[in-house]
Amino acid sequence: MNFKEQLSEMAELVNQQLDLLVPVKDNKQKVIYEAMRYSLLAGGKRIRPVLALAYADILGVDRDFVMPFACALEMIHTYSLIHDDLPAMDNDDLRRGRPTCHIKFDEATAILAGDALLNKAFEVMSEACNNMPENMKTRGIAMMAQVAKCSGSEGMIGGQVIDLDSEGKDVDMDTVLTLHKHKTGALLTAPACIAVSAAGMEDTIEAEHIFEYSEATGLAFQVKDDILDVEGDTEKMGKAVGRDAKQDKRSMTVLIGIDSCKNMLDELTVKAVKCAEFFGDKGNFLKDMADYLLKRDN
Ligand code: IPE
Ligand code: IPE
Ligand code: MG
Ligand code: MG
Ligand code: MG
Repeated sequence: MNFKEQLSEMAELVNQQLDLLVPVKDNKQKVIYEAMRYSLLAGGKRIRPVLALAYADILGVDRDFVMPFACALEMIHTYSLIHDDLPAMDNDDLRRGRPTCHIKFDEATAILAGDALLNKAFEVMSEACNNMPENMKTRGIAMMAQVAKCSGSEGMIGGQVIDLDSEGKDVDMDTVLTLHKHKTGALLTAPACIAVSAAGMEDTIEAEHIFEYSEATGLAFQVKDDILDVEGDTEKMGKAVGRDAKQDKRSMTVLIGIDSCKNMLDELTVKAVKCAEFFGDKGNFLKDMADYLLKRDN
């Protein structure tokens, strides 16, 4: 199987689980399930859960063991997008190729759907911990704690705060790096945290390479997102372009220009590929993933 086939097979595994974890409901609050499913099952790239599975493969962990955490992470990522699109934040009306949650439903429902996805994520992770054999529960709790940390005020939310606070201001490289590493890097490092804790391999040379890979690709991911906002295609990306400039966002392209961004992206990709090569043939998927993330157009 080539990389693209592997990627879509893994994404499909995740999609099937998400569909089961957030089912259609026919009760008085059924609209919240409609809104959660509307955004969650709208065909995102599933990069974060796929990375969790890929790191698990490399470290010899059963995919089923990490799957609930991988799905929880995708729920948290989707919630972050629903809230990111709200008028109070980026005020966007297109996401994953469809009207944003607050446009399709309304603002209150979009806020609650995001909240519900966040809570569902922790329900899924804590249930997974409960179902683990006694001797594995400590690992499960460590995995859940890492996801919490990567998502919270020292992670993604912290980055969103810096993003909003930086709008229209004269900020330096250090601020933009901190912003990118938090708002996007944190949820892309979470898969590494999940897999490393699942393997009980904290403080190993393997973990070191996986973390270095995830940090490089995590930063690269937002730099690429910033580039795509300038020269991407709405049709392909399923979201509007040119939004960062309109909102006076402190994106990397504003700070250093698009050519320097592309150089930065190349350097980060070289770094990620080197980390993947540490694992020999077992690192091939991660190598191809770094290249795919560099060249992606959506
Ligand atoms: C978009 O993330 C938001 C950023 C962190 C840049 P993705 O590009 O992974 O979006 P989906 O999940 O594929 O929709
Ligand atoms: C969003 O960054 C990151 C999070 C949702 C945490 P952006 O605001 O740049 O993402 P897009 O471009 O709307 O997908
Ligand atoms: Mg934003
Ligand atoms: Mg946005
Ligand atoms: Mg963006």
